[in-house]
Amino acid sequence: MTVAQVLHRAAAQLAPVAGAAARLEAEVLLATVRGADRVRLLAALREPVSTAEEEALARLVSRRCCGEPLAYLVGQQEFMSLTFKVNRNVLVPRPETEVLVEAALKVLAQEGWRRPTVVDVGTGCGNIALSLAHYFPRARVIATDLSGAALAVARRNARRLGLDARVSFYRGDLLTPLFACRRACPGLKARAYLRATGWPACPGPYGGTRSKGREVCPQWAVPCRPTGAEVIVANLPYIPSAELASLPPEVRHEPRLALDGGGDGLVPYRRLLRQVPLVLRRGGYLLLEMSPAQAEELCALLCRAGFFKVEIVLDYGGQPRVILGKLFLISRKKQILGV
Ligand SMILES: C[S@@+](CC[C@H](N)C(=O)[O-])C[C@H]1O[C@@H](n2cnc3c(N)ncnc32)[C@H](O)[C@@H]1O
Repeated sequence: MTVAQVLHRAAAQLAPVAGAAARLEAEVLLATVRGADRVRLLAALREPVSTAEEEALARLVSRRCCGEPLAYLVGQQEFMSLTFKVNRNVLVPRPETEVLVEAALKVLAQEGWRRPTVVDVGTGCGNIALSLAHYFPRARVIATDLSGAALAVARRNARRLGLDARVSFYRGDLLTPLFACRRACPGLKARAYLRATGWPACPGPYGGTRSKGREVCPQWAVPCRPTGAEVIVANLPYIPSAELASLPPEVRHEPRLALDGGGDGLVPYRRLLRQVPLVLRRGGYLLLEMSPAQAEELCALLCRAGFFKVEIVLDYGGQPRVILGKLFLISRKKQILGV
C-alpha cells in the first residue's frame, strides 16, 4: 500500500476518537513510525509503506482508539513553541497553561528584578519552568514535584533544551524541598512555621540520610537566598475528585496525581498558600492556573493570605484561567495566621 492509502485507512479508523483531526493525527502517527516529519511524509504520498511500518501504525492507531493521548504515542508535545518530551508519568502540557507562563513573563519584565528566583510547584514535564528559563534568561528557576518519574522527564527536557544549568529540580511535597534548604539558613524559622500550621514535623529532606542524629540533605546544596523567591507559579491538580470519573477517556489516561485536586479541587492550593509566605519574598508574585469556576474562591483565598493587586487573566476562550497576586508587605506571622 502507498502512504496515501495507509493514511486514508488510518484516518477512517481514528475518526470516532479524533473527529475532524483524524487525518492530521494519522499523518502525525505515520510520520512518527517512519521517523520523518509531516512535511516529508506529505511529499511522499505515492511511496510504498513496508509491512513492518503498517503494523507499527496499526498498533498506535489501536492505542489512540482506546483513548490514549496523541502526545503519549508520539512522545512529545509543543508548548510555548518549544518541544517537550512526555510520557504517561506526566500531564500533557495544555495550551491554556501558556496563559500562566505569559502572565509570569509579564510580571518579570514589569518588575525588572536583576536576577529573580522563580519557583514552579508541580512541574510535571517541566514545561512551565523551562519555558520561563528559556524566555527570561535572567531568571534562576527552581522546580518541584512529588513524582520522581515526572521529575526524570523534566530533567531530560532541561538537558535537551540546554537549560539544566539554570533550572534545578527537587522532589517533594509542594514547597517543602525548599524548606529543607531553608532549615540550613539561619533566620528562617521553618520549624516554627511548621508547628504553627499544624504539621506534625517537617517532612525533611527527600532522599537524605541521617548523620550523628542530624539530617544531611542533598537539597541543602540549593543556594538559598534569605530574601526568598520573587515569583512562585503553580499549575497544581485542580479537578474536584468527584469529577474525575466523568472526564474524557484521554484525560483519564493521565496521572491521577496530576489531576485530583481533592473535595472542591482546591485542596493543593489551600495547602500551598500556607507554605508560600515562607518562600516568597514580600512584594513577590504568586500565579496559579485554575478552572474558571474556582476564580471567586481563589480570589478570596489569596486576599486572606495577604496578597493584593489580585488579578484574573482570561484564557484564549475568554474564560478566567489564571489568578495572580502580589504579596503584601506585612509580617510572615500575620500572613500565616490570616490563612
Ligand atoms: C496539573 S499537573 C501540571 C504539570 C505541569 N506543570 C503543567 O502545567 O503541565 C500537576 C503536577 O503537580 C504534581 N503534584 C501533585 N501534587 C503535588 C504536591 N503535593 N507537591 C508537588 N507536586 C505535586 C503532579 O505530579 C503533576 O506533575
